[in-house]
Amino acid sequence: MNLDLGDKCFMVTAASKGLGLSVARELLREGARVLLSSSNRSNLEIAAEKLKTEGFSDVPIWVTDLTKKEDIQRLIRMAQNIFGKIDGVVTNCGGPPAGPPLAITDEQWQTAFDSVFMSVVRLCRLVVPIMEEQGGGSVLAITSTSAKQPIENLTTSNSLRPAVAGFLKYLSNEIAAKNVRVNVIAPGRILTDRTLELDAALAKRTGKSMDEVRAHYSAEIPMGRLGDVDEFSTVCAFLLSPRASYITGQTICVDGGRVQSLF
Ligand SMILES: NC(=O)c1ccc[n+]([C@@H]2O[C@H](COP(=O)([O-])OP(=O)(O)OC[C@H]3O[C@@H](n4cnc5c(N)ncnc54)[C@H](OP(=O)(O)O)[C@@H]3O)[C@@H](O)[C@H]2O)c1
Repeated sequence: MNLDLGDKCFMVTAASKGLGLSVARELLREGARVLLSSSNRSNLEIAAEKLKTEGFSDVPIWVTDLTKKEDIQRLIRMAQNIFGKIDGVVTNCGGPPAGPPLAITDEQWQTAFDSVFMSVVRLCRLVVPIMEEQGGGSVLAITSTSAKQPIENLTTSNSLRPAVAGFLKYLSNEIAAKNVRVNVIAPGRILTDRTLELDAALAKRTGKSMDEVRAHYSAEIPMGRLGDVDEFSTVCAFLLSPRASYITGQTICVDGGRVQSLF
């Protein structure tokens, strides 16, 4: 299927590694232009270099700490300066701190709120009016299956991902008639640095080996395995493309069947 992304311009946040980078790569493969951002310049330079070796030269990068409002404002201005328009935004963020429900400190809650929830609100506040004026656009928020079903030990995610889904569902109603689509993509367990970190933390907490931890998580996935980043990013590229023109206000899981809700 031709996704018709050849003349489209995107911005992907938290895109120096993992899921964000994989979505950026997939959009580039489809012929789109992409601005990569994350909070760490050297990680971004490494990512851009990696993309160069894969045939995507001169991918623009911009340092943006998503917990900072001014950084987000500068990122949007930069995207407009580079591209002259913004067809799509992928909102991704660093994983919030893990821990059981009563062990998260006020400071951890505040940082997680700024990173997971307020970054999406702030990005949408600035980018949706631009898209409305252009006559359309697409926002895709990377969250987690915790938006639908809690995950062991991920209290902040279990609390804040549903809030993001709720905010975006309501926003999607308000702007659908202006041809701006908003969707949420909820990864289950996709193999990235973050998954390795969480596995290592659980292994330490429980005294299990990494293999035992991996087997424990795989057992709750009907497909019996973790996902690959390409299996995730191809769905994202579709949702961002004009081929998904009648899909808005949805939360789509890419999780090997993990979530047990019917809808
Ligand atoms: N992988 C999974 O299976 C899975 C499942 C469910 C949900 N998720 C969620 O999906 C998101 C991405 O996961 P991942 O597995 O790709 O994680 P990852 O490999 O650890 O990558 C995280 C990305 O976030 C960036 N980042 C961290 N703090 C940032 C900040 N303050 N401002 C801007 N960027 C920041 C990092 O770049 P810099 O360090 O360069 O800033 C990096 O590019 C996370 O929120 C995670 O919780 C992942």
